[in-house]
Amino acid sequence: MEIYVYSAGVDGMDAVRPKILVVDDRSENLFAMRSALGPLKADIITASSGNEALSLLLRDRFALLLLDVQMPGMTGFELASLIRSDPSLRTIPIIFVTAISKDSRYVQEGYDHGAVDYLFKPVDVDILRAKVNVFLELYAEKLQVERLVAELRQRTTELADANGDLAATRDRAIESDRAKSQFLANMSHELRTPLNAIVGYVGLLSEELEGDDMVEVRQDLGRIDASARHLVGLISDILDLSKIEAGGIDVYWANVSVEAVLDQVVASVSPLARRNGNRFTQEPAPDLGSWTLDAGKLRQVLVNLVGNAFKFTKNGTVRMTARVETVDAHEALVIEVSDTGIGMCMDSIEDLFQPFTQADNTSSRRYGGTGLGLAISRKLMNLMGGSLTATSQSGVGSTFTVRLPRQVLYIDAALESALDAAAADSPSAPQRQAVKC
Ligand SMILES: Nc1ncnc2c1ncn2[C@@H]1O[C@H](COP(=O)(O)OP(=O)(O)OP(=O)(O)O)[C@@H](O)[C@H]1O
Ligand SMILES: [Mg+2]
Repeated sequence: MEIYVYSAGVDGMDAVRPKILVVDDRSENLFAMRSALGPLKADIITASSGNEALSLLLRDRFALLLLDVQMPGMTGFELASLIRSDPSLRTIPIIFVTAISKDSRYVQEGYDHGAVDYLFKPVDVDILRAKVNVFLELYAEKLQVERLVAELRQRTTELADANGDLAATRDRAIESDRAKSQFLANMSHELRTPLNAIVGYVGLLSEELEGDDMVEVRQDLGRIDASARHLVGLISDILDLSKIEAGGIDVYWANVSVEAVLDQVVASVSPLARRNGNRFTQEPAPDLGSWTLDAGKLRQVLVNLVGNAFKFTKNGTVRMTARVETVDAHEALVIEVSDTGIGMCMDSIEDLFQPFTQADNTSSRRYGGTGLGLAISRKLMNLMGGSLTATSQSGVGSTFTVRLPRQVLYIDAALESALDAAAADSPSAPQRQAVKC
């Protein structure tokens, strides 16, 4: 059997032969031992006294100690006691080699002094080699374990360092994201105030000019009013988005009638339906009942979705349906807004939920809008522990599905995931165009 010993902490695969220390005061015994152990893959080192053995042990590392018991000066038992009391030596296995007695009390004394085994003189060479081989194997395994432990420690330190770096980078990213969101929120607020003043003054001027012949001036005022309102809407969207990203939006939970929320949505969007000659139907299931949700946020999401459906559908139909679905004993409120409009041909419809993303680069020019509605709507749904998904077919129509679980058990987790998702988004790229298929 080949035994290779790899020194702990030594790089590479340098095989180091294990060392066996044989201690006996009689040179003929040392000679016999050396020849008996010769064929083994180990270096045999000999010492003729306890003191000499001790100084060798302190200088070198040994796989095994074969120790004579009866020696002048320090006996084998005394040397074993010293070895066991030294932390750097105590794990060396000791086999006592004795000619004295096989008496069990005597043998027990040897074990008490730290022997792991006994051999009796005259030593049977086969038994000696077999036993020593077992200890050499154990030693090789021990070194291997030590090497793995050292590697593991090294890796653990490297991982801890890497984790520390990652955490610091993440903290900096979160901090700068919050700072950016805070900046956007402040700026949006500052812009909205003067714009609202413009809208207000335009309104006043229009009232004052009512009945006058100044048609062109009134038309111009109408354009100013429309542009200013568009800007107010856009800034409100940016404000909403940055508030969500900065974690500054609270969810106001209340037990509300879903049908009442749907009626409010219908009331605020029906005037838009006529604009493109669309037919609008609302089809709530009869047993919707009351749900714990933030009515304001659900309303905002549905108004966005129905508003989009009206915008991208001409002389078609827009349907809003609502039902309760039960999956694995978990109830969810499912509201779908579908239309028979232009639909979309997207490589990834998920891109639409990124801020400032539209299905194609003519959308903004032809239909208006900034590409913020869906991003905000999804984040609002996530805040409530729900989801917003979409399916669409170019030229056939689109369906947007809002899903809200009955019991929101992990509001904090939902908030966290919404914030994480918000952090991953980048509203800085203006008007990104999603890839068209
Ligand atoms: N019902 C729909 N039918 C076809 N395309 C749609 C529909 N809803 C959304 N889209 C596509 O998804 C894009 C993103 O919608 P989103 O509501 O986020 O932005 P927007 O309507 O363009 O602008 P905003 O809502 O900010 O005023 C739209 O520009 C449009 O290309
Ligand atoms: Mg929109």
